Amino acid sequence: MNTPEQVNASARQDRKNFFAANVFAVGYATHGLFPYRGKFHPQMIKAIMNVMGLRTGDTVLDPMAGCGTTSIEASIMGLNSIAYELSPFACLMTRAKVGVLEMDCSNFPRLLKYADEIYQRFAPHEKRLAVQQTLFQAASPGKDVLDLEDAFPRLSPPMRELLLLCYLDAVGYAARRKGKTPRDLFPDLLSRYLAAVQAFNETREELGIRLGQAQVIEGDARHLQLPDESVDGVLFSPPYSFAIDYVENDRPQLQFLGVDIENLKQNMVGLIGSGRTRQQLIESRVTNYFADMEAIMTHCKRVLRPGCYCVIVIGSNTNQTGGISLENGLIEIGAKIGMPLEFQIMRQIEGIRNTMRDEFLLFFRKPGVLNVCEERRENL
Ligand SMILES: C[S@@+](CC[C@H](N)C(=O)[O-])C[C@H]1O[C@@H](n2cnc3c(N)ncnc32)[C@H](O)[C@@H]1O
Repeated sequence: MNTPEQVNASARQDRKNFFAANVFAVGYATHGLFPYRGKFHPQMIKAIMNVMGLRTGDTVLDPMAGCGTTSIEASIMGLNSIAYELSPFACLMTRAKVGVLEMDCSNFPRLLKYADEIYQRFAPHEKRLAVQQTLFQAASPGKDVLDLEDAFPRLSPPMRELLLLCYLDAVGYAARRKGKTPRDLFPDLLSRYLAAVQAFNETREELGIRLGQAQVIEGDARHLQLPDESVDGVLFSPPYSFAIDYVENDRPQLQFLGVDIENLKQNMVGLIGSGRTRQQLIESRVTNYFADMEAIMTHCKRVLRPGCYCVIVIGSNTNQTGGISLENGLIEIGAKIGMPLEFQIMRQIEGIRNTMRDEFLLFFRKPGVLNVCEERRENL
């Protein structure tokens, strides 16, 4: 609703930068809250869900949900969604970003007025965040962790989690900005978070958007605990393995949440493997990666209704895999488990071309009676 012309007139520099960098194109609704690397392009997800033939009331599963792009887009389109994700921090992001899509914003001015008091509820737990800790100083998992309900008894669960996300954002932002503390940055960030939530809620009401329901499950995609034939589509992007270490990236946030980081690492697809040389490490990681992806794709096929799509978005980066193309490996797995590739789309990636050139959208399809999915796709 905010066109660049309106914003340019009297805007602060950070808002001008936001539009100049074209961030509004991918940061609408709650997508722009907390910068998470390797996140989907939201409009692409909407387009894919249309091509999959999903309609109001259908359920889409993202088994490696990250910061919840699929769930946010699904909700806005009136689709129900299930976000499955191993990282407790990514689950927090998804719950917060989806949970505030429908919310009473009347107390926002009051929250802004008490921004510093809100910050002070988090501050005593700040020592858990120290990024470079020795073995002996390392924050012990689960100990002295902030109890959000205790800290903000009168706020709704999504609002509490939004405040926590905003606080963790301020901490990360301060680490990148010289001479600024999280406390300096928190009020400004909070006003940005609340403005985004309010803008979306006003738009939702004005347009009469009825949101789909979103469920967030913390769990391992290799052992999906969902019933057979219970979803109408699967859409996800496995870690661009070898390119982003999600655990190291999110270490301060995970520490703050009291997560057992070493245990998490051992189950993160793309990071599992060992070797004495770099070559051995890569080979071991690639082997484990394909075994894990086979387990995940087999579950995806099991939970899909017959005739529906499982779409995997994957970047190509043969430099980091010892020459092996991940997309071809996944196509082979699809053929092996009886969920063949129906078609694929390739697109060039902007922004991270030094690590990744192309992205493949792989449309696998579970065989079965031509159900409503097929008719819908043909009608498009
Ligand atoms: C490329 S990111 C997904 C980004 C997501 N599409 C988005 O838009 O935010 C891959 C995600 O897989 C998650 N992941 C890694 N291993 C997993 C596992 N065994 N089970 C579930 N999720 C896992 C990582 O934590 C990471 O958030």
